[in-house]
Amino acid sequence: MAMTLGESPLQTGMRLQRTPEPCSIVIMGATGDLAHRKLIPSLYNLAVDHLLPNGFAIIGFSRQEKAHEDFRADMRQAVQQFSRYAPVESAVWDSFADGLFFQQADFNDVECYRLLGTLLEKVEKERGTSGNRIFYLATPPTVFSTIADMLGKSGLVTPNATGERWTRIVVEKPFGRDLESAQALNRDLLKTFQEVQIYRIDHYLGKETVQNLLVFRFANGLFEPTWNRRYVDNVQIMVAEDLGIDHRGGYYETAGALRDMVQSHMLQLLTLTAMEPPVALDADAVRDEKVKVLRAVEPPTPDEVERNVIRGQYGPGWVGGKEVPGYRAEDGVAPDSTTETFVALKLNVESWRWGGTPFFLRTGKRLPKRETEIAVTFKRAPLALFPHLDAESVTHNVLAIRIQPDEGISLKMLAKIPGQGYRIQPVHMDFLYGASFSRQSADAYERLLLDVMLGDPTLFTRSDEVEAEWRIVTPILEAWQTQPPPKFPNYEAGTWGPPSALELTERHDCTWRQA
Ligand code: BG6
Repeated sequence: MAMTLGESPLQTGMRLQRTPEPCSIVIMGATGDLAHRKLIPSLYNLAVDHLLPNGFAIIGFSRQEKAHEDFRADMRQAVQQFSRYAPVESAVWDSFADGLFFQQADFNDVECYRLLGTLLEKVEKERGTSGNRIFYLATPPTVFSTIADMLGKSGLVTPNATGERWTRIVVEKPFGRDLESAQALNRDLLKTFQEVQIYRIDHYLGKETVQNLLVFRFANGLFEPTWNRRYVDNVQIMVAEDLGIDHRGGYYETAGALRDMVQSHMLQLLTLTAMEPPVALDADAVRDEKVKVLRAVEPPTPDEVERNVIRGQYGPGWVGGKEVPGYRAEDGVAPDSTTETFVALKLNVESWRWGGTPFFLRTGKRLPKRETEIAVTFKRAPLALFPHLDAESVTHNVLAIRIQPDEGISLKMLAKIPGQGYRIQPVHMDFLYGASFSRQSADAYERLLLDVMLGDPTLFTRSDEVEAEWRIVTPILEAWQTQPPPKFPNYEAGTWGPPSALELTERHDCTWRQA
């Protein structure tokens, strides 16, 4: 096969291997937001890229009543609106839509699952999907356990994760509300499925730049020797969003920023930044190392929560030149809500590599801009050679890994300003994805859906991993229940959060990086 210019044999080889076996995907909650915005457009994109198997079908399983044709028409609109390949290509759409079906559901009624079974069998024959099944739980988390139980009771689950007639289940976030409920959900799922059949999704792991963390750290010889407490002063992980909560007030009121972002996405970024090199790039080796990092993070005591975890909630303000309401005035939000829309916290990873190096995490809604970044700040060089320079002008080297937008990596270092004497100025060495690679990155869901079809769980969260995440976050939630909340709202929309967040880094002799 001819290679496309710019592709290495390795890349070409990897792509050739990535053809899934025939299968059907049942999307539970197919009329919801996630299916519209992400799942169906991503599956369509995979069809455009010829990455779907020949035998393939999607069944929507949802409360609303719908004919197959109506479901197809809705999904066409969703693809038109959210696919990166819009406008829809008629030829691709027509063959994709031939494999789309719908079954009305009451998630508590075993009879609906029997009807689903009948439809699955019919579709499997017509579409040649070989009895391989993926059940994707895109429903509210309150029905996750019920669905798993009903799938088992109605005989829709085979015991195989691979091989003949395999069954896999994908579970969306939030995976539990605290350690206890996450453990209970793990137990419930394990009554019907084996761990190797369960794919707990965290879409941040599907992002190209997040996966590049592994390549950047472990394929380059240059950075790893300095990637530790001897050379690194602090690590900052920031997920800033300029958006508010959109129309998700009902969900967000039960979640808050700590559950919504820190427990999942941000701790995942932390593990990939702090982990040891895995012995292989396979699912268990990678996840073993990630779990070790989480276990090395000391769960904070109530005193530490008070000192090291700052919560905020936005009031009205201006974002991107537009006046926006405060959180308490959003749809579905209580007028006296104490839900946090901002969290900044310091965590210690008490491992041999990181002991004593603070990890600062910061996330919030209605911040000045959307930006996700991991910044590794190195210790300052000794000043002996440049005694006339004050400590302030000799800034730290910072390696900033930009996850989104403008994906790339930038290294800040000091350079001599041309001319007489030694005047020094920070300069940047930049790598920009957009400049180096002409290919548009796939959406995170495309990569992850493909991995489920391929049976590769490396980028999914294992049961012990999700529990280890909750072991860090649950003590914070518990402490907040006993500590009076700050006077909310405590930051104006369009600013970088409450002033107390600044003190958190200042207390450790550093500052938040200017985004
Ligand atoms: C979701 C959260 O998991 O991630 C949202 O529930 C958040 O509140 C979103 O906005 C952020 O994802 P992304 O890919 O836009 O950074």
